[in-house]
Amino acid sequence: MSAPNKSYDPVEVEALKPEEIDGARDAALAAFEAAADLEALREAKIAHTGDRSPLALANREIGALPPQAKAAAGKRVGQARGAVNKALAARQAVLEAERDERVLVEEAVDVTLPYDRAPVGARHPLTTLSERIEDIFVAMGYEVAEGPEVETEWFNFDALNLDPDHPARSTHDTFFVADERGGPDSGLVLRTHTSPVQIRSLLDREPPVYVICPGRTYRSDELDATHTPVFGQVELLAVDEGLTMADLKGTLDHMVQSLFGPEMRTRLRPNYFPFTEPSAEMDMVCFRCHGESVGDPDRPCRTCASEGWIELGGCGVVNPRVLVACGIDPERYSGFAFGFGIERMLMFRHGVADMRDIIEGDVRFTRPFGSEI
Ligand code: PHE
Repeated sequence: MSAPNKSYDPVEVEALKPEEIDGARDAALAAFEAAADLEALREAKIAHTGDRSPLALANREIGALPPQAKAAAGKRVGQARGAVNKALAARQAVLEAERDERVLVEEAVDVTLPYDRAPVGARHPLTTLSERIEDIFVAMGYEVAEGPEVETEWFNFDALNLDPDHPARSTHDTFFVADERGGPDSGLVLRTHTSPVQIRSLLDREPPVYVICPGRTYRSDELDATHTPVFGQVELLAVDEGLTMADLKGTLDHMVQSLFGPEMRTRLRPNYFPFTEPSAEMDMVCFRCHGESVGDPDRPCRTCASEGWIELGGCGVVNPRVLVACGIDPERYSGFAFGFGIERMLMFRHGVADMRDIIEGDVRFTRPFGSEI
């Protein structure tokens, strides 16, 4: 056995020469930089940091060195490997970020596209609400009555005691239907309310008459958050012997209790309609704050603007002139009627803030209401 070679010069080991180590390091850095994608980087990683890479082989040589040479060689190789690993990690991060960005663009999914499965439809909430209201009255013996949306001026106005000079006629912002020659006097309008169905029902039937008339109506309003030129009304008419304003009030209370809960109430405020006398504006207790926000600045109510009441629509005792126009004896019969907008009712009942959402027909609005039958 010979003694350890104390004067051993590590430079003599080819793989550990500084130029070799630096060369191997620079080759690795260049290869990583040149790698255009993660696959190329993986290959460069194996070639320059794998078990058979120049730096790994050089590292293995260190063990055979005499103790006094190990430190310097170990430091040189260690520094080179450190630089290589750092460069590898940096390049890896850059290429991964590039890939993620590309994947985001290339594999983006348009979640608004239709999908394969046959979608389940949903009935429009205006339809379901209107039918729910009809059901309340059908259960009480009322009939559902309908009429045309293009209506004669006589049914829409004259028979309802709104003769051509009546000031209330001009407040209806009417769409007039042109005659064949484009002239203005076809005598037809898009009905401005469902009240002409009152007249049609009274002409069609013998009293007693109990009808509920839901339907589309038209006024030349601009479309905005609280107005729409096409809107739905529900109108109710009862004509029988001995009906009074008290019957109207009880019927209104029953409706709002059926729709909003047993604690609901309505109130009447004097108003004017040519087809009812007396006439009233009908309000219901705010179903959100139940009137408790009134006078309490700490508990403002957005639904009723802290008024405690919400305006629903118009009502009254049928004007005897309307009964006469329909051939009914006002000495024997009397009646009551009311009408309100269905969109407003839907907005209250379901917290819809903007009327346009109701009518634009986007299924993303209607779907959450489900497919009630
Ligand atoms: N037709 C009235 C309107 O459109 C509402 C109403 C109906 C008022 C029935 C009284 C009775 O404003």
